[in-house]
Amino acid sequence: MRHRFPILFLVALLPVLVMLGLARAAPTAGALPVIPAVQGHYLMGCGGCHGVQGRSGREVVPDLAGQVGYFLCTPQGRDYLVRLPNVAFANLSSEDLARMMNFVVFTFGGASVPANSRPYTTAEIATLRADPLRVADLHLYRQQVVRAVVQACPRAAGLHGYDVAQAARTGQ
Ligand code: HEC
Repeated sequence: MRHRFPILFLVALLPVLVMLGLARAAPTAGALPVIPAVQGHYLMGCGGCHGVQGRSGREVVPDLAGQVGYFLCTPQGRDYLVRLPNVAFANLSSEDLARMMNFVVFTFGGASVPANSRPYTTAEIATLRADPLRVADLHLYRQQVVRAVVQACPRAAGLHGYDVAQAARTGQ
């Protein structure tokens, strides 16, 4: 009977001891995976809609992975990516936004980026975001941009997938 209390105490403490053991077994701080700042910015501001890996299920939000680079086929497409309100008004300096958009376009875009495309510069981003899209129907504007992009780069035809999904969803 006298030992009951310490035993109960130990049982109550068990989860804490296990957690401490796990913490010890976990890699040291230096070895913890560190999310690069550019990816952190993306996750915070964009990942909720576009998905951690740039895949969102295109019915509601277009996929970025494997296709966002096609927009660089035309100057208008290149501009569109930065003039999008969600991008232009991102709470980031133009330098950070340039880094993030280059990550989005070149890393997520992968093989969809046309050969010899140049990365966005800070100055270019600053100019483009100062002129955000002010169109009533963003989706309609995207359709026009995509049409021209597909004309310039026929392999970009998959970009229309979002339009098709939207039409099916809204019945238009
Ligand atoms: C609230 C959801 C949401 C958030 C947050 C968001 N986006 Fe988007 N994004 C969309 C939608 C919807 C479209 C399609 C716009 C259209 O219809 O023109 C889009 C389009 C895009 C496109 C063009 C792709 C295409 O196929 O048209 C890019 C690039 C993009 N977003 C990047 C970003 C970045 C970078 C961020 C973060 C700074 C961001 N988005 C935040 C919903 C979002």
